[in-house]
Amino acid sequence: MAYQNIQTKTEGRVGVITFDRPSALNALCDDLTRELSEALAAFEADSDIGCVVLTGSAKAFAAGADIKELQGRDYIDLYMHDPFAKTWESVARFRKPIIAAVAGYALGGGCEIAMMCDFIIAAETAKFGQPEINLGVMPGAGGTQRLARAVGKAKAMDMCLTGRMMGAEEAERAGLVSRLVPADDLMDVAMEAAEAIASKSLPIAMMTKEAINISQELSLSEGIRFERRVFQAQFTTEDQKEGMAAFAEKRSAHFKHR
Ligand code: CAA
Repeated sequence: MAYQNIQTKTEGRVGVITFDRPSALNALCDDLTRELSEALAAFEADSDIGCVVLTGSAKAFAAGADIKELQGRDYIDLYMHDPFAKTWESVARFRKPIIAAVAGYALGGGCEIAMMCDFIIAAETAKFGQPEINLGVMPGAGGTQRLARAVGKAKAMDMCLTGRMMGAEEAERAGLVSRLVPADDLMDVAMEAAEAIASKSLPIAMMTKEAINISQELSLSEGIRFERRVFQAQFTTEDQKEGMAAFAEKRSAHFKHR
């Protein structure tokens, strides 16, 4: 499908979505987020896709919601239209594994969308921030919640109240990003990670993602009970039989994703 604000491609079992609105540092206008959610729906429906990489340009992953679009909105318009729930949250609702590969600015909604992904691989040029307070608002697409869970209350307060940016090294130290890599290696590292994930059993990877995500919402004992039930259920899959047989027979597993 032809998009105006993003590019998509597939490499093997990996789908890649690249924000492509350079004139506005990939600011997340309505058209872009609608295209993003359409592209994700297409990758979700494609049984040949096992993992997605979401990325931007060298200068910006995304510089946030489109301020010029938001500027004229009022409460009832935002409440009734609720663009964040309708389209932005499509990243959080995506059921297959999804990696954010971030270089340059990931600010406001850009940081929030990166945090909706399963993990973030950052170039050393990456800059994260929730600067909405400078605009007279606070983060509105999960920033106060996901940032606090990712980096803890103190740093989340610091970021959201001062509006300062966090460099890639600090972001890695704080646990916001899983890997910090030289800028030139960003896509190679992200693709290698995505290919590794896509080579596993897709339903098992999806259940793993679901279990880790649910850990953010449940008590430890409830989470462990959920994990145990899902682990037991995995013994009904062909991929569990194949994975364990392959180990015993000293060969590579050939997962059928069922
Ligand atoms: N919305 C709309 N346009 C944006 C934008 C945004 N979030 N960020 C950048 N742009 C546009 C600029 O207006 C500029 O366009 P023009 O050339 O037409 O003037 C172009 O992108 C390049 O930007 P700058 O000239 O500002 O580039 P810079 O290198 O000097 O600065 C920057 C880069 C520090 C990222 C700066 O652009 C900036 O502060 N952007 C806004 C960041 C921000 O506040 N994000 C939060 C948005 S609100 C939000 O996201 C709410 C939410 O929780 C969902």
